[in-house]
Amino acid sequence: MKRSDINKQIVNAKKMFDSISFKLPAFANWTPQEWKEKGSEVDEIVENALGWDVTDYGLGDFNKTGLFLFTIRNGNYNMRSKYPKGYAEKIMIVKENQLCPMHFHWKKREDIINRGGGILSIKLYKADAKEELGYEDFSVSIDGVRHDLKAGDIVRLNPGESICLEPFIYHSFTGEGADVIVGEVSDVNDDANDNRFHETMGRFPKIEEDEEPLHLLCTEYREWQK
Ligand SMILES: [Fe+2]
Repeated sequence: MKRSDINKQIVNAKKMFDSISFKLPAFANWTPQEWKEKGSEVDEIVENALGWDVTDYGLGDFNKTGLFLFTIRNGNYNMRSKYPKGYAEKIMIVKENQLCPMHFHWKKREDIINRGGGILSIKLYKADAKEELGYEDFSVSIDGVRHDLKAGDIVRLNPGESICLEPFIYHSFTGEGADVIVGEVSDVNDDANDNRFHETMGRFPKIEEDEEPLHLLCTEYREWQK
């Protein structure tokens, strides 16, 4: 992705979060210059990859396949004694007709919440023993109500509604009718080890630097501070 596109998506996201009065923590607004002045007091942000995260999954067409995320809090399975926190929270945007591609998590159980905008349309399968899309029926909890589903069923969430995605439940989602602000409340998020994409793809974009970053992405703090 071009840095100018990433900057544009961040500006747009701030407006959308404002539209539902969803406030972000202070570090959301730190500039790259301010990051240079930070020391070990911000380790938790750096080591747990909190903050801005814009991805085209390395496929080069963000509007078709992509997701915009801001990680508000997270633990760290690799540094448990320093970060015993067992949970994570994100706020995300999936655009109308943009696909967050089919994947499941081995470890992470996540509640995906429609926080506002259009309808959040989620396609679901239970993974089979080979970790492919299974044919088996399964159940999900939508705001405390069990729903029995068939392989490939689509669940459509209105603003305010949420679904609990258990580990090994494949999910892809998109916005219907408008862009959707999506919340996530989950177990610890470990992007390096806990995403099983159905099609092979990356998790983070390749960045083409065509202008200065407005804000650093969650993968860039260390590099920038050198
Ligand atoms: Fe997921």
